[in-house]
Amino acid sequence: FEVAWNADAAEKGGWPSFMAKEITEQPEAIANTVRGRIVGGTADGDGAADAAGGARVEIPELTELGDDTLRNIDRIVIIACGTASYAGQIGAYAIEQWARVPVEVQLSHEFRYRDPVLDERTAVISVSQSGETMDTLMAVKYAKDRGALSVSVCNTQSATIPRESDAAVYTHAGPEVAVASTKAFTAQIAALYLIGLHLGRVRGTLSDADAAAAIRAFDALPSAMAEAVETHEQIAQLAHWMADTRSVLFLGRHVGYPAALEGALKLKEIAYIHAEGFAAGELKHGPIALIDHGQPVFVLVPSPRKAPVMHSKVVSNIQEIRARGARVIAIVEKGDTAVLPYADDVIRLPLTDALFEPLVQVVPLQWFALELSTAKGLDVDQPRNLAKSVTVE
Ligand code: G6P
Repeated sequence: FEVAWNADAAEKGGWPSFMAKEITEQPEAIANTVRGRIVGGTADGDGAADAAGGARVEIPELTELGDDTLRNIDRIVIIACGTASYAGQIGAYAIEQWARVPVEVQLSHEFRYRDPVLDERTAVISVSQSGETMDTLMAVKYAKDRGALSVSVCNTQSATIPRESDAAVYTHAGPEVAVASTKAFTAQIAALYLIGLHLGRVRGTLSDADAAAAIRAFDALPSAMAEAVETHEQIAQLAHWMADTRSVLFLGRHVGYPAALEGALKLKEIAYIHAEGFAAGELKHGPIALIDHGQPVFVLVPSPRKAPVMHSKVVSNIQEIRARGARVIAIVEKGDTAVLPYADDVIRLPLTDALFEPLVQVVPLQWFALELSTAKGLDVDQPRNLAKSVTVE
């Protein structure tokens, strides 16, 4: 009789890797990040059963900065590296929409050395899972020295970056062990969205209807993400057939664009496969020349209900690449039949608001990278040449 249990398996919650465990923890990571930050209404403090009935987003750490400080901001720069920078790119769409402040996203190491224009009306939001990435830390210090307001989005309590910042908005994703970031990424998006909603409320730019819709979307998110986690089996089969693939492309539009970049990064990091993400609208300006027979392309298809214009544009993109021989793997909202004639594989996800789509769409992309890495016999959690936290410049 052999005891199958061992400490390693227990740490991974029965999963073969930390990354697999962390992918499945995302619904909980999001719920924990949102908890206590949606207040009022009938479901005070926790979720928003009655979102339309007066619930609002309130982040105490931002309230402490003073509403006048937040109203004074005329520009936001999000700085980050790697996966966190893609969370920043996604967050930028939401913050601009809700708070009506121009937002730009820069890689920390580029920001620091470009002689950026900064003053006391600029807010610099750093995004870092570890809170120790040296390039991001140096960029935060630089911005602070020039009088900008610094807000840290971080997953590690009392790390250096949040300590150096004027305010810290923690993601409560729990410890992330796998080098490739998954649950920290989606929690970062959630935290940036909460910041956007808080700013929009204080600055008076967020309509009650938009606030209520966003709060309802947050409320539904954990169960939508749990459904996305269940695409695992379908994705595992897909990855199994594609184990010899040498290049994979990802297409997305609007918030789907940085999500496509993140899907490509995951594949590079842990499956060592050449992968690139593109903005779907950019296809005809170059990337379409890469398409030939059998080229796998993941396409993040926006919701036909919530984003009908973008949906039809992405469907046309699918037709264009399919006509040139691409193998199309379409990630769609359940019930979207428009892509069926042109897709080789269809991955169906639950309905959510347009801005919230990346939070569910990225989950099958995370599984795909993990399963392709596994199919190639690689170490999913400890990819070659990479570190969880890069503490040198
Ligand atoms: C490293 C990790 C990535 C991570 C990046 C930024 O490159 O391998 O997964 O996205 O650093 O890390 P941070 O801790 O600042 O989010």
